[in-house]
Amino acid sequence: MHDILPEESPYWEKVRQIVFELGQFYDFGFIQTPILEMQGIFERTLGLSSDVVEKEMYTLKTKGGDELALRPEITAPIMRAYIQHGWAAAPQPVKIFYLGPVFRHENPQAGRFRQFHQFGFETLGSEDPVVDAQLIQLAMALLGDLGVKGLICEVNSLGDKLCRIKYRAALKDYFRYHIKKMCHNCQHRFKHNPLRILDCKEEKCREAIAKAPQILDFICDDCRSHFKKLLEFLDELNIPYLLNPHLVRGLDYYSRTVFEIYAEDRRSAQAALISGGRYDGLAELLGAKNVPACGFAGGIERVIAEMKEVKARVPQRPQPKIFLVQLGDLAKKKSLKILEEFREHGILMAESVSRHSIRSQMNIADKLGVKLALILGQKEALDNEIIIRDMAAGMQETIPLAKLIAEVKKRLKS
Ligand code: HAM
Repeated sequence: MHDILPEESPYWEKVRQIVFELGQFYDFGFIQTPILEMQGIFERTLGLSSDVVEKEMYTLKTKGGDELALRPEITAPIMRAYIQHGWAAAPQPVKIFYLGPVFRHENPQAGRFRQFHQFGFETLGSEDPVVDAQLIQLAMALLGDLGVKGLICEVNSLGDKLCRIKYRAALKDYFRYHIKKMCHNCQHRFKHNPLRILDCKEEKCREAIAKAPQILDFICDDCRSHFKKLLEFLDELNIPYLLNPHLVRGLDYYSRTVFEIYAEDRRSAQAALISGGRYDGLAELLGAKNVPACGFAGGIERVIAEMKEVKARVPQRPQPKIFLVQLGDLAKKKSLKILEEFREHGILMAESVSRHSIRSQMNIADKLGVKLALILGQKEALDNEIIIRDMAAGMQETIPLAKLIAEVKKRLKS
């Protein structure tokens, strides 16, 4: 977990701005769910054998005995909100976006943190593959608008629950002959969740995985047609995609479409910038009626690292053109009022009201390269006047305080 320092803030502001711009354009509503949820929300939906639930969730028990978790992701909470607020009765689909911190007790390494931040977009209440395509389009556009280049989207279909029963059995049959030579993690997954073996990055497991049966040979006609339509939409949109038959994702709630978006140059680092997919069965896992849905989330820290890598442009803070210098108790008191007046007039002004020496304040004004210094000394404060100094010309003039704003506006214009 780490502090996000002020110098990082132009990147965070840019991400926030683009997420909100796209959210508004595509007509998604913004939601903020609590950081703490009932632990069961995640256990029932991400899967007990998923890495997130099994190893990475921060959990706590309240004095009243409630078992809570710091949210390790935000999709399950969104579905919880959909059910809780009766959104099934609203016009479908319901489109929601969010942005906030999530927590996973992972081994810290490049691009992997224990507290990180996600933005995400979820469309609930439609099974139409056009929704999946639009979300992928939105995800690509978002990264593009942030200046990230060379994007590639990996896609796969996991079929539905029934397709996966057949596929799981085929995987078990296949890996039975290889599992002894595979890593400890894969041996564990073989027992509990054989699909996740396909996700293993260990060199010694890769050979067996490369020849494993592929899900696309096991999915039913409906799921196949859903996937085919999605690919047709992506072709139409000219979105660069790559079929990855081994893309299974780490969370159990997925069905049909799954996707991950990478910056192509850094794909080998296996750090997806954005990941998502369809989760048609998630509502049922929470005990509600079926709600077909699809969405994605992006890791803000990873996206910002990529923005820095490609030297993406971020807006810099506007620089003040005026500096207020003060000397003495009365001047200090008046300074705060003057500052507030400038704020009300929308004129940016720098100051250092906690300093005493005029010279040190003038040095700061110099360093900032302001056009005007406003000097309020003891005499000026008593006489309700102020000195305006043109820093470049070195000329100064004393004027009544009451005329200050008008005079500054005039000089800034010229
Ligand atoms: P996820 O793949 O677990 O999916 O996380 C989404 C994104 O969060 C990843 O692509 C990555 O950018 C970022 N991320 C994940 N773990 C870390 C970490 N430890 N440190 C930094 N960044 C990380 C989900 O969370 C799903 N809820 C996505 C989704 C939304 N599926 C459907 N709707």
